Amino acid sequence: MKKFILKVYRGHPGNQYWEEFELSLEPYLNVISALMEIQKNPINRKGEKVTPVVWEQGCLEEVCGSCSMLVNGRPRQACTALIEPILEKTQSDTITLAPFTKFPLVRDLIVDRSRMFENLKKVHAWIDSDGAYERGPGPKISQEKQEVMYAISKCITCGCCVEACPQSNERSKFVGPQIMAQVRLFNLNPTGAMQSDERLRLVMQPGGIADCGNAQNCQQVCPKDVPLLDSISAIGRDTTLQAFKDTFGVPPF
Ligand code: SF4
Ligand code: SF4
Ligand code: FES
Repeated sequence: MKKFILKVYRGHPGNQYWEEFELSLEPYLNVISALMEIQKNPINRKGEKVTPVVWEQGCLEEVCGSCSMLVNGRPRQACTALIEPILEKTQSDTITLAPFTKFPLVRDLIVDRSRMFENLKKVHAWIDSDGAYERGPGPKISQEKQEVMYAISKCITCGCCVEACPQSNERSKFVGPQIMAQVRLFNLNPTGAMQSDERLRLVMQPGGIADCGNAQNCQQVCPKDVPLLDSISAIGRDTTLQAFKDTFGVPPF
């Protein structure tokens, strides 16, 4: 049976190293199943018994985002990364796996992505509700708006866009492109729009929209085709109008 090599960048903060594992190429094997094979028999390519590689996973269907990592250097979900097509595309017998670099490393392929969730809290990325009682139908949302909102709502908070963004790193305050999309989503909602001034003022602060360098890498790696660049433009426009409103007390038109 054909063999391939999984080369994994593993270890703890301050002690990371590459380790290779040789595996049999089964049809439809994906990165997670390959890691499970290593877990069953953690023997590296030198024949040494090592600690099993650790990683995160949840849904196994590209919905939770927890298995996101760098596969051959590209941010993506390990559960939908099929081994055979990657080997064919690269004409190589080796696939590299590495943890994201823009989030604190926990161990092996696991990073702490909580910064993204904290940033969602910071920008009030939810709709306020004052109870669960029946309040009748909400305001109508046009088809055009619904289409934009649906596209943004597909975000799985995986962090691929943050990983690809040159403006995001451990030293920068930039909240990341997905936050701009979520601010747009909740401001488009008729109920959420009641806090739109607050959300816009939050992304007008350091680490907000002004820190986006418009490199456009984010859109290219998003597994859910979230319209990040359109959202960044929309938030740029909305924050300009908000600044005008805050300065002169009325919108410019
Ligand atoms: S456009 Fe560029 S700088 Fe702005 S969020 Fe996307 S990747 Fe980052
Ligand atoms: S916008 Fe796309 S790449 Fe960014 S966190 Fe959401 S799903 Fe992931
Ligand atoms: S395990 Fe949920 S996205 Fe891969």
